[in-house]
Amino acid sequence: MSIAHLAPEARAALELPDEQRIAFLAEDRWIDYPRARKALRELERLLTCPQRTRMPSFLIHGESNIGKSMIIQKFLRDHPRREFNHDTGMLQLDVLVVEMPSGPTERRFYGQLLLAMNAPYRPSDRLAAVEFTALTLLRQVGPKMIVVDEVHNLLAGSAREQRASLNLLKFLSNQVPCSIVALGTRDALAAVQTDPQIASRFPGLELPRWQENEDLRGFLAGFERQLPLRKPSRLSDNRTIVNGIMSATGGVTGEITALLSHAAEAAIRTKTECITPELLQVAGGKVRFHP
Ligand SMILES: Nc1ncnc2c1ncn2[C@@H]1O[C@H](COP(=O)(O)OP(=O)(O)O)[C@@H](O)[C@H]1O
Ligand SMILES: [Mg+2]
Repeated sequence: MSIAHLAPEARAALELPDEQRIAFLAEDRWIDYPRARKALRELERLLTCPQRTRMPSFLIHGESNIGKSMIIQKFLRDHPRREFNHDTGMLQLDVLVVEMPSGPTERRFYGQLLLAMNAPYRPSDRLAAVEFTALTLLRQVGPKMIVVDEVHNLLAGSAREQRASLNLLKFLSNQVPCSIVALGTRDALAAVQTDPQIASRFPGLELPRWQENEDLRGFLAGFERQLPLRKPSRLSDNRTIVNGIMSATGGVTGEITALLSHAAEAAIRTKTECITPELLQVAGGKVRFHP
């Protein structure tokens, strides 16, 4: 039997017992697609850009589950510099990622920065102290880029609070100095656009829902190559399948991958060994449907 349809890792996984093949399905895998490539190229450009007085920033926006954090994870895998400096006792890294929890306060933001640098943080510490420690450590750790994921949580609140949070990002970028990469929903985009000065510092890239086109077929084909199934499913050549996937998922990346993983699991359990429209139909019942 030919397994030419598979990527090397998936080929290796074919040897595993069914339960382990199913466990393999649950692992996150990276599939390249043009929009993500574009985002990665932009991040690359920011990282290699020489230090200036006014560091460029970037906003990646799109709805939840569309693939924003995966792009950052991929970028981190490609830029793993994370060293411990024995002279200073400090962590040194190029890219620092923080996730903004909901319930915005400046103190929590600085707290997240401290946690990301493995520094102690007590939520009861006074804001001035937390800010001072975070800025001092940041200058030592020296990230060239700070990624703020779920940035809409930081930018929630009244117009005045939004402005304060945007100024905080600008301040941080100037003080460290570093580029700021913000990931968030369209609320984040709206917040950034309220201030022309900030908007000009934050060019954005949208991750939209998938449309039925060549890019989607490429993504599906890429996903299929990584599924440890013995037979080809030819997802991208099959109109019924592509239509079914679009109507079951609304074109949201995370829902597409969840649907395909469920269908692939069914393909293993039923010994069908490829994804068929029937298996997709059944698997579709396990994912959230969009109107
Ligand atoms: N490039 C990709 N390759 C493979 N799977 C992806 C990719 N992007 C997103 N996914 C799937 O979609 C899910 C949601 O992506 P995530 O980046 O967490 O979305 P967001 O941060 O926009 O909410 C991931 O857990 C993964 O299963
Ligand atoms: Mg995310």
